[in-house]
Amino acid sequence: MSDMRGKIAVVTGASRGIGEASARALDAAGARVVLSGRTMSDLERVANDLANEPMILQADLSPPRAGTALAERVIASVGGVDILVNNAGIPMRRTPDLLTEEDFDRVFSINVRSLLMLTLGLGPSMMERGGGSVINISSIASLRGPLGRVAYAGTKGAVDAMTRALAADWGPHGVRVNAICPGLIATAIWENDRKNIPGLIEELEGQIALKRWGYGEDVADVVLFFASEASRYMTGEVVAVDGGMARVSSAPRPG
Ligand SMILES: NC(=O)c1ccc[n+]([C@@H]2O[C@H](COP(=O)([O-])OP(=O)(O)OC[C@H]3O[C@@H](n4cnc5c(N)ncnc54)[C@H](OP(=O)(O)O)[C@@H]3O)[C@@H](O)[C@H]2O)c1
Repeated sequence: MSDMRGKIAVVTGASRGIGEASARALDAAGARVVLSGRTMSDLERVANDLANEPMILQADLSPPRAGTALAERVIASVGGVDILVNNAGIPMRRTPDLLTEEDFDRVFSINVRSLLMLTLGLGPSMMERGGGSVINISSIASLRGPLGRVAYAGTKGAVDAMTRALAADWGPHGVRVNAICPGLIATAIWENDRKNIPGLIEELEGQIALKRWGYGEDVADVVLFFASEASRYMTGEVVAVDGGMARVSSAPRPG
């Protein structure tokens, strides 16, 4: 198991889903975790289970300057960090004819703007501590051109591109930057689609080579890998954690 004792990690969107699983995994490995999100009751539910002096910093990452403001609060609270898991994100299922500029701004404000500004605010503290690891939670929507989600896919494509660019800027300073593209992970993010689009869930499952939806823990284990020394020679990578969906054929064999 990875030994994260003495490390400080920030996880955004830690109140549920992939962020919650990542916070739990980092804490179990010994890291002190700063949990961020909007819903205090959920953040407290997660923090109550953690062992290593977890800290909660409640924040809405949609307004301008929210990412920078959260970074300033992190520095004021814990001094500096070693690991940042940029996980907070919202979906945006809108066909091209229905997508508005407001939809576009909203999904980019959280999934892209705050993600980058929080990272830029915390990176220098990683450098001061001798290096660090930024883990961006992207999506296979950036890899495979999903139907009806052009803006969401655009945010995740931006995350992938920023991952590589920042890896170039910060590599010489010992800060690694990698991205994970989850496939279909059974979290609250799917609740609306599950209710509103009959048959979608089953149809998508058929496209996964491993023939099951993922769990938060499936992604959290890879978060832990990128946070740990095991990935010390990796930076600028964008890795799918999708049971074989984005790049693996799931078509039935002919004949
Ligand atoms: N689940 C999947 O199948 C899947 C697939 C590909 C990529 N992803 C990506 O994985 C990440 C996590 O998704 P998830 O499935 O775990 O979703 P989720 O269960 O809906 O969790 C989203 C998290 O983001 C936080 N969040 C949402 N809006 C926020 C805001 N305005 N300010 C601050 N925090 C906010 C939520 O906390 P509060 O509501 O408490 O603020 C929550 O903790 C997202 O970036 C998503 O795009 C998920």
